Amino acid sequence: MEKGRQVRLFDRQARQYENRREGKTQQQWRKKLLKQADGEILELSVGAGANFPFYRPHVKITAVDFSPEMLSKAKRAASHHSLNVDFILSDIEELEFQDHSFDTIVSTLSFCSYENPLRVLHKISRWCKPEGNILLMEHGISSNFVASTVQKVLDPLLFRTIGCHHTRDMLGLISQTELSVQRVESYWLNTAHLIWAKPGKGK
Ligand SMILES: C[S@@+](CC[C@H](N)C(=O)[O-])C[C@H]1O[C@@H](n2cnc3c(N)ncnc32)[C@H](O)[C@@H]1O
Repeated sequence: MEKGRQVRLFDRQARQYENRREGKTQQQWRKKLLKQADGEILELSVGAGANFPFYRPHVKITAVDFSPEMLSKAKRAASHHSLNVDFILSDIEELEFQDHSFDTIVSTLSFCSYENPLRVLHKISRWCKPEGNILLMEHGISSNFVASTVQKVLDPLLFRTIGCHHTRDMLGLISQTELSVQRVESYWLNTAHLIWAKPGKGK
């Protein structure tokens, strides 16, 4: 899909994201994952700021998204939670930071949208400090035959209408990078994963 069209798709969903009342489970996942978020934090594809309630007050956040409407909602959320956030309106796939810029890199529900998720994984591995943490909450293809078949059938329609794929194999993608997975929790027939990783193999 052309990027401008994908941005417009997310712009149109921004109010929905801002008003979204997530289930308790998803909030608990965010809380659990972000306990480890500290220092200089990069949040990829921040959306309307659904993670902001779970950051500690003293952290310094750089938040990126390519949707102006999402960013405007996220700015409101940051001020509501009194967080120190620098916002960057950009396609994360085109953005560059210096190597070892961040103590923590966070992504929740964003790798489903990227044209080249592997490239973004390589980037975050470089951008994270060697002792830093990469914290991911991502969804993708189920290990259950029936569920994955439904996902494959619906994927083209879902991508066209909401801009994200439902068939990504996140753990498989991560295994092709230099990230070292410390811990994984998988839920909902393995369609949802909480992943704690570090840059560099063998850590
Ligand atoms: C499914 S939403 C998730 C939002 C948020 N991370 C959350 O947990 O609720 C995906 C977000 O990724 C953003 N996005 C998708 N592709 C992007 C890209 N290539 N660069 C920057 N932002 C992107 C969209 O604008 C949207 O805000």
